[in-house]
Amino acid sequence: MIKETSFAIEVAHLTVSYNAKPALLDVNVKIEADQLVGVIGPNGAGKSTFIKAILGFVKPDLGTVKIQGTHVKNAKGRVAYVPQRGAVDWDFPITVREVALMGRFQKIPWYTSPRKKDRDAAMEALDMVRMTDFAHRQIGELSGGQQQRVFMARALAQGSDILLLDEPFAGVDASTERAILEVLERAKRSGKTLVVVHHDLSTAAEYFDKLLLIKQRLYAYGEPYMVLNEDLLSQVYEGKLKIFKDVVKKEEN
Ligand SMILES: Nc1ncnc2c1ncn2[C@@H]1O[C@H](COP(=O)(O)OP(=O)(O)O)[C@@H](O)[C@H]1O
Ligand SMILES: [Mg+2]
Repeated sequence: MIKETSFAIEVAHLTVSYNAKPALLDVNVKIEADQLVGVIGPNGAGKSTFIKAILGFVKPDLGTVKIQGTHVKNAKGRVAYVPQRGAVDWDFPITVREVALMGRFQKIPWYTSPRKKDRDAAMEALDMVRMTDFAHRQIGELSGGQQQRVFMARALAQGSDILLLDEPFAGVDASTERAILEVLERAKRSGKTLVVVHHDLSTAAEYFDKLLLIKQRLYAYGEPYMVLNEDLLSQVYEGKLKIFKDVVKKEEN
């Protein structure tokens, strides 16, 4: 069979608004497979909305999203999602293993319990995020960074080629940030395409193959050195760019 497209995600003329106020306006971008892509832009820029549109969670006013050449409507299960930590109820009584197994639910027929292959996929995913030893712990007992990794396991267990993560590094300490980055890199090496919302410009070039700079409109998509261009950043971040410069200076010292 001839491969229809080599793009993991194709977004054309994407326009999304809430209460008639546009959050995204005419966004056009094609994301190649097997890449680790960072989505950057200031607060309220539409980063989460962009991720939700790729998942088909928000209905665009205009434009289309294709996943591996297929309209997002018909691409259910091809994209896995790790929501922002704040969007999850951590008091829910469920074990780490059960959370990972949730990633398999789309694949388990309603009349059966999880099969060996589902349980194996869940355990493999926990191994990938190095959380196997915690399999029987309650999710609520874990640290923020561990919870984040378990949610990455849930997404990995789904077996999708494409993973979308919304600010996985938010509110974690430096060693957890390392651990999460390693999971992202491991997932990429295993053939996944990852699109990751990231708010820290000072690490963006180091972490990602490509960056996507967004503020309602797409300002740039490409190699970090092209996107982290002072003119572009000052257009997008306006007054806040000074903070970025300070961060860069600090790193150089
Ligand atoms: N459910 C919603 N209802 C109304 N407005 C929303 C909703 N979600 C996001 N917005 C608005 O859309 C814009 C983009 O939001 P968002 O995609 O969350 O940005 P980011 O993730 O970059 O901070 C913001 O102005 C935000 O207030
Ligand atoms: Mg957001």
